[in-house]
Amino acid sequence: MTAASVAVIGGTGMNTWPGFEGSGALDGDNAWGSPSAPLQQGRFADTPVLFLARHGQGHHIPPHRINFRANLQALADAGVRRVIAAAAVGSMNEAVPPGALALPEDCIDYTWGRAHSYSDGPDLPLHHIGFTEPFSPLRERMLEVATAASVPIHPGGVLGVTQGPRLETAAEVRRLRRDGCDLVGMTTMPEAALARELGLDYAVVAVCVNWAAGVGSGDIHGEIERYAAEGMDRLRQLLTAVLPVLAEDDAR
Ligand code: HPA
Repeated sequence: MTAASVAVIGGTGMNTWPGFEGSGALDGDNAWGSPSAPLQQGRFADTPVLFLARHGQGHHIPPHRINFRANLQALADAGVRRVIAAAAVGSMNEAVPPGALALPEDCIDYTWGRAHSYSDGPDLPLHHIGFTEPFSPLRERMLEVATAASVPIHPGGVLGVTQGPRLETAAEVRRLRRDGCDLVGMTTMPEAALARELGLDYAVVAVCVNWAAGVGSGDIHGEIERYAAEGMDRLRQLLTAVLPVLAEDDAR
């Protein structure tokens, strides 16, 4: 067990976490396998927190190969109750330019072939989880804290989750737009649904690093290089404000 009730899952560009003071690691192995990396125990903004590198320590695990079930189970086994999931995304909404953060309110799952449920065997319970609001109530709490601390963040958006690891075609992004998506990433599903199956409070912080395919100048990799650091700085600002408040909530 750990004293941390909150975990941060770090995505692309966040395999290490400046400002995080590590104090040990848990291997986190469980019935579903090994998590992407050991769970790092430590403190950020003087608050106990667990950190998990979603793509592994050396960023070697592609989105479709992540063992999402082992990752979420490891966090639940460690005593975590709330999960802040950082995810790099492309944007098709001009209100969320590269370098900006968003707290999406909903998502559409375009992934396939991923192990996406714990209800997956004759001896395992079958749960039809409610998923109308995939990121509540942690999302609302983070939004309140970000607003009070004047951390700039787009308060919503629909996140389309694609299979990857390739980026989308321009026609795929036009379809995402028609479907009502504002942002596109590769890892929020099945992560968010598995968190819900385990009863974890989960919210995604989308870190916009590029315009989606066919939306901007076309130099997606150049944009990612240019804007990733800015997005990560904003994410650090957000976590500095949010983590102490969540710890206070839990102490009540
Ligand atoms: N598409 C999908 N996932 C992403 C993107 C994108 O444009 N940028 C960062 N992650």
